[in-house]
Amino acid sequence: MSLATRPKIELHLHLEGAAPPAFVRGLAKEKSIDIPGIFDERGHYAYADFWDFLKVYEAATSVLRTPEDYARLTSAVLAECAAHGVIYVETFLSPDFCGGRDVSAWRDYLHAIREAAEAAERSDGIVLRGIVTPIRHFGPDKAKETALCAAETAGEFITGFGIGGDEKAGHLKDFAWAFDMAREAGLRLTAHAGEWGGPQSVRDALDRLRVERIGHGVRAIEDPALVDRLAEDGIVLEVCPGSNVALGLYPTWRDHPVEKLRAKGVKVTVSTDDPPFFHTTMSREYDRLAEAFDWDEGVFEEIERTSLDAAFCDAATKETLKKRLETR
Ligand code: HPA
Ligand code: ZN
Repeated sequence: MSLATRPKIELHLHLEGAAPPAFVRGLAKEKSIDIPGIFDERGHYAYADFWDFLKVYEAATSVLRTPEDYARLTSAVLAECAAHGVIYVETFLSPDFCGGRDVSAWRDYLHAIREAAEAAERSDGIVLRGIVTPIRHFGPDKAKETALCAAETAGEFITGFGIGGDEKAGHLKDFAWAFDMAREAGLRLTAHAGEWGGPQSVRDALDRLRVERIGHGVRAIEDPALVDRLAEDGIVLEVCPGSNVALGLYPTWRDHPVEKLRAKGVKVTVSTDDPPFFHTTMSREYDRLAEAFDWDEGVFEEIERTSLDAAFCDAATKETLKKRLETR
């Protein structure tokens, strides 16, 4: 079976970051919103580095102003994921962008996103779950309000809590209150670390926030004792190689540490992060990994099993997904 049509599980996708540029331009035009300087001459997103990327991301997100906009975005993103064989995806959702952290407005956005997701599940068989995500550079106070939104809506659809944004802004320990609140509400936890922060940022996510998965986490490779700890404790890394290469963290795919981490027994999974920003898709990730590391179907099978185990959905959903992976 070709890698493109293999059923895939994606655990790390920013919903706004998955918006195709044409979708953002279309909404901007409909609403007469001016978003200068975020596209290049070919119409792709244009940014200089990670910090500029965050600015462009927020500018693109500024065209999404209503629950209906998010419903349309969800439909567009899930259709694209399904076209690349994705059968299950977890997406980061931020009450900062969806209703300004007001619980009642957040519920309206969530309702619209869920309706769109249920329609996609009926038509394409793709299953979506949400991970509520404060934005680190917005600060710990806003993260507390975000955690309240998350706790109020925790359940079958909102199953996780995370943190994204500028990994160098503030300290993770200042977000412990928000993560404690989310954990008490029954949410599963992940945090972006070990991408722009070094190994210590991964230790902080584990020790201060007590997460079970790490978004990226790849810079753990710089600290052998940390690699051993990740392997021993079964911490799952949401690795996004194409994102790391596009943002210049590693010069080429062959320089990416995902294979070294896997060889040392760390549980790795594969995701796209913000696919149109990084000119990637899940099938491109698979193809490039196969090419760079000579990965065969057995390796992808192992990664898919790890991803399913680490997914933040309930046991019945996992059982259904497992059958779909097995009957490919
Ligand atoms: N990394 C961190 N924060 C983000 C990203 C990302 O790729 N996309 C949107 N917020
Ligand atoms: Zn990310």
